[in-house]
Amino acid sequence: MPDVVVVGGGLIGLATAWRLAADGIQVTVCDPTPGAQTSNVAAGMLAPVTEVEYGEDDLLALNLASVNAWPTFAAELEDLTGQPAGLHQTGTLSVAYDVDDAAALRRLADYQRRLGLEVEELSGRDARRREPLLATGVSGGVWVPGDHSVDNRQAVATLLRAVELSGVQLIRQRVTQVVTSGTTALGVQLENGDTVHAGHVIAATGPWSSQLDGVPEELRPPVRPVKGEVLRLRVPEAYRPALQHTVRATARGFSVYLVPRPGGELVVGATTSELGYDTRVLAGGVFALLRDARSVLPITDELELVEAIAGLRPATPDNAPVLGPSGLDRLLWATGHYRNGVLLTPVTAQILADTVRTGTLPDLGKPFLANRFGH
Ligand code: GLY
Repeated sequence: MPDVVVVGGGLIGLATAWRLAADGIQVTVCDPTPGAQTSNVAAGMLAPVTEVEYGEDDLLALNLASVNAWPTFAAELEDLTGQPAGLHQTGTLSVAYDVDDAAALRRLADYQRRLGLEVEELSGRDARRREPLLATGVSGGVWVPGDHSVDNRQAVATLLRAVELSGVQLIRQRVTQVVTSGTTALGVQLENGDTVHAGHVIAATGPWSSQLDGVPEELRPPVRPVKGEVLRLRVPEAYRPALQHTVRATARGFSVYLVPRPGGELVVGATTSELGYDTRVLAGGVFALLRDARSVLPITDELELVEAIAGLRPATPDNAPVLGPSGLDRLLWATGHYRNGVLLTPVTAQILADTVRTGTLPDLGKPFLANRFGH
């Protein structure tokens, strides 16, 4: 019997399993298609500063802790596996398309400065000095040196190798329910009818967390799916690198981000729509992303459209994750990461591993208990 069974093999579940295994704990991960859902679709921005929202101070502290943890997390993964973890420490340039967008960007920069975050306001010309292929009309920018990106697909592949090397058992099956006795979780049942008993169950179940059978409905966190469409474009050799930094743009009030990868891929994202568990890519979503991307990067027209894909963000009512004790003994949540799943992977894994090891949720995790939603 493993000490821990992790339900869900996305980045959060795999990283948590790896951290636990590194502490000498026997871990099993259950997922029919590890890494193939939200973790595969994400653009991989590490954006605690550029995605900061007014009034989300606890989440900001968690996000900053995790962006600071990423370099060591990536180095440890790379040392173990010999594979790239996908971290690109490029900084991020936020740009505005028109004067209204520039005013909104300045207001956000004021707020970011008040929070003590490092931002530098730029003229349109200075923004173009950093990224020469930006549209001549770009009316202003903000340079954010601490926001970076991760190639999420590389990170998944490397974490899969890391869990394998660390002795984690991977069961490629769907969990049908958490098995309980009274108010204690004893393990999980798989779709083939087998039961995996374990000392702890960690639900890294992302957008499906509110559907986890076996957990009483009143203890399930209010996580809902929020769809995001993402495009992957290929930059021809002649234009490389089209961008050297992640570029986030506001164009006529709409936001878009463009995340360059070293191999010539440019990831453009993302739409936001509340359509339940719908992962169809809609023409309107592709249109909006391309319209906004070409407003600030005109050579978008010359890039090959390689992939259009949609995934589901696991959103909560306060946009923050759900971490730790669940109200059922021995069931812990690692879910609800909404827009910050890739960013929050290292800190979530560490918080969950510490909780299992010590029996106590670390202080950094305490604002994110499921019971804040009234459980
Ligand atoms: N963090 C990017 C997104 O959710 O679209």
